Amino acid sequence: MDQKEFARRRRQLMRMMGHDAIAILPTRAECTRNRDVEYPYRPDSDFHYLTGFPEPQAVAVLVPGRDHGEYLLFCRDRDPEMEIWHGRRAGPEGAVERFGADDAFPIGDIDDILPGLLEGREKVFYTMGAVPEFDKRVIGWVNRIRSQSRAGRRTPDEFVSLDHFLHDMRLYKSRAEIRTMRRAANLAAAAHRCAMQLCRPGMMEYELEAEFLYAFRKAGGEPAYPSIVGGGANACILHYTENDAELAAGELVLIDAGMEHEYYASDITRTFPVDGRFRKAQRAVYELVLDAQLAAIEQVYPGNTWNAPHEAAVKVLTRGLVKLGLLDGRPSALIKEQAYRRFYMHRTGHWLGMDVHDVGDYKVGGEWRVLEPGMVLTVEPGLYIPARSKGVARKWWNIGVRIEDDVLVTRDGHDVLSKKAPKTVEDIETVMAG
Ligand code: GLY
Ligand code: MN
Ligand code: MN
Repeated sequence: MDQKEFARRRRQLMRMMGHDAIAILPTRAECTRNRDVEYPYRPDSDFHYLTGFPEPQAVAVLVPGRDHGEYLLFCRDRDPEMEIWHGRRAGPEGAVERFGADDAFPIGDIDDILPGLLEGREKVFYTMGAVPEFDKRVIGWVNRIRSQSRAGRRTPDEFVSLDHFLHDMRLYKSRAEIRTMRRAANLAAAAHRCAMQLCRPGMMEYELEAEFLYAFRKAGGEPAYPSIVGGGANACILHYTENDAELAAGELVLIDAGMEHEYYASDITRTFPVDGRFRKAQRAVYELVLDAQLAAIEQVYPGNTWNAPHEAAVKVLTRGLVKLGLLDGRPSALIKEQAYRRFYMHRTGHWLGMDVHDVGDYKVGGEWRVLEPGMVLTVEPGLYIPARSKGVARKWWNIGVRIEDDVLVTRDGHDVLSKKAPKTVEDIETVMAG
């Protein structure tokens, strides 16, 4: 992403903060996997959103209206020895030259510099509770100023939740963000198509997972979350990630796999028959979920509410479950008592962005949020019928279906970013036969 995009975001936030405020935002810490091995480092999404700075041990500070620079970055100093072992560092100079900071300092100097920046500011925009050790330091810096108040030092007297502002900004995707998300969705959709083509009875679930890992890394990205590849009974486990069972003919396989491309996620689920042909009962459930998904996607347009796609999906699913004989009663009553939850226990979607379950409020002032252009959400209804479900005929057992797309709210409706992943029974069977 262009440096100008990060600068624009900082300007927008500083306008909202006002001149009597300061914002402090640390990135996330590195995380140990085992003994001295660390997980690949991924910066905090809020921090990345404002800075584009990829290194750990960094703190961004925004001081609107400050004469000697409004955007300050504290980061690791350069260190030739450490860099030989652990990789390059930008250092404060690089933070200014390459990442647009007005000024930058070694992270070790933050205790000396930060109190001076707090002085004279009334509000501190800071997210409490996200990094508890850092909370203590921020309070310590404020207290240091407070202890000098008799010397006429002005103490900040108000903490404001920074994440509340940032998360609202992140909900509205810019053109550059939409471009990036479209690419993340396209690449993942292509991998789903590939998985359909490669799938054969006798393969292990992890062999299909490997296709996604390969496709994502090959394109310079990585999985946005651990891929779910569940065959047969495993398709009925919502967060199944073992991916270590054999795929058998006659079963469905559910794959929920999305790519993170330049910090933006896609989140796509497709379900298809391991041997390429839907059986009758599988097809009935699949087409019901697909009808529900299409009805839900129809509800994505500006001015409609966040919950409308979910309500549409629930209506279609409940009616269909009655028709298939899986629920008994009047659809309106069954919806009211949420009888569908026996087979459909999750909601129809979530915001999507830098985090797969992205930030942003779903309700505003107690009411469901109104959809606006630039928002991106998933639409992902499903039905899950485990074996030995009480009162359920055997032919339905172990059918688990979810269909998930990434949908952008546009000015006049919606755009399905993940539309290149095959979805109709016909398309899937054709791709698998090819
Ligand atoms: N992949 C996580 C989800 O679908 O919400
Ligand atoms: Mn999802
Ligand atoms: Mn998903």
